[in-house]
Amino acid sequence: MMAQHSARSLYLKAHVNMNHVNPIVLAVDTSCDDTAVAVTQGLTVLSNVVASQTQLHKPYGGVFPTVAKQAHKENIAPTARCALKRAGVLESEIDIVAVTQGPGLAPALEVGIAWALSFAERHAIPVVPIHHIEGHILSVLAKPRPRSRKQLKKNKTRRACAYQLPALAIIVSGGHTQFVLVEEIGSYKVIGTTVDDAAGECLDKVGRMLNLGYPAGPTIEQLAKAGNASAVSFPLPMTTTKTYDMSFSGLKTFARNTLTEMTSSELLSQQEVIDFCASIQYAVFRHISYKLEKFLSSLEGTFVRDIWLGGGVAANTQLRRTIRKVGRNHTLKVQVPYAKRLCGDNAAMIGVVAGANMALDASWVEKTQHDGFERKPRLQLATAT
Ligand code: KG4
Ligand code: ZN
Repeated sequence: MMAQHSARSLYLKAHVNMNHVNPIVLAVDTSCDDTAVAVTQGLTVLSNVVASQTQLHKPYGGVFPTVAKQAHKENIAPTARCALKRAGVLESEIDIVAVTQGPGLAPALEVGIAWALSFAERHAIPVVPIHHIEGHILSVLAKPRPRSRKQLKKNKTRRACAYQLPALAIIVSGGHTQFVLVEEIGSYKVIGTTVDDAAGECLDKVGRMLNLGYPAGPTIEQLAKAGNASAVSFPLPMTTTKTYDMSFSGLKTFARNTLTEMTSSELLSQQEVIDFCASIQYAVFRHISYKLEKFLSSLEGTFVRDIWLGGGVAANTQLRRTIRKVGRNHTLKVQVPYAKRLCGDNAAMIGVVAGANMALDASWVEKTQHDGFERKPRLQLATAT
């Protein structure tokens, strides 16, 4: 991997070549099991390609890091070619590369960073390291490429509503469940976080107990539609703690114990599986909304002006409904990414982080060089000062 000082000199050499008006970004994310490359310009997504490894990891019931690394290595170049082709952009037209530095799986992150650095070196352009969670947070700001005058107008409206700060970002994914106060772009304060499993991880693990395959979140959503959410009474976790932290591992244990009891004499019927899905989904979302309500009620006046919902589980319609209901109690709107494919891991959100930060601060690219490009599997979100 390129050393910190050589990456910096690459930046200095390359900075002269950059189109400062509206740079075109090639964005890369290999933080987990998806090889993702996108082309973005400002907040606009020109292309967004994800090579999913779901099928490879299915037999393991989760992500197997060495398998992920190998697949990223094989997929990254063709995924990038596809992203450039779909965007209608030549390699030589890319002004800057943005790559996820962390958090994520170390062997997986490594592949994206090494590839991004070598692409940047080949074209003598700068490369910026991006925080994966900042990507999920700012995914709501992404705008589709305008294909008509109508869409162009819609994009302008999106931009206008998206900048209601401070906003409360709710990130619900397979690796993270967090409430993050967005005071400014680039200035974040974690209000609450899961102390154990993430919400998506909990759904995936319970889904595994029900033999629903991996990842189970989308299957649980589909089955839950025909189920009775009060069939199994899950507990509401952490009601006595004063913080806005969450915990999902107790729900997982409760699910396991209940299933052991239910299956001691006979197998579950199809309707029982469906009801179980509706119940666990309800329990997970009720826990998030309970903590959200608690936080919003603690605020004085209209401190938070917007709610942003992102992460893989944010694709779930029932979660959106649940969060919108809490938002309405506080006259807050809930913004979600313009397409569900921007909820799960993708690189467009990584490009949008670069676009949003560059628009606000002309020296942002230079500032990002200071911490180097090493992969940071446990990278923390920059805290507000
Ligand atoms: O954001 P993401 O792609 O990866 C991480 O950063 O973790 O999120 C993946 C998670 C998985 O746990 C998956 O089951 C869950 O998002 N997920 C869903 C839905 N779509 C994906 N959970 C519930 N309902 C969905 N529709
Ligand atoms: Zn993610």
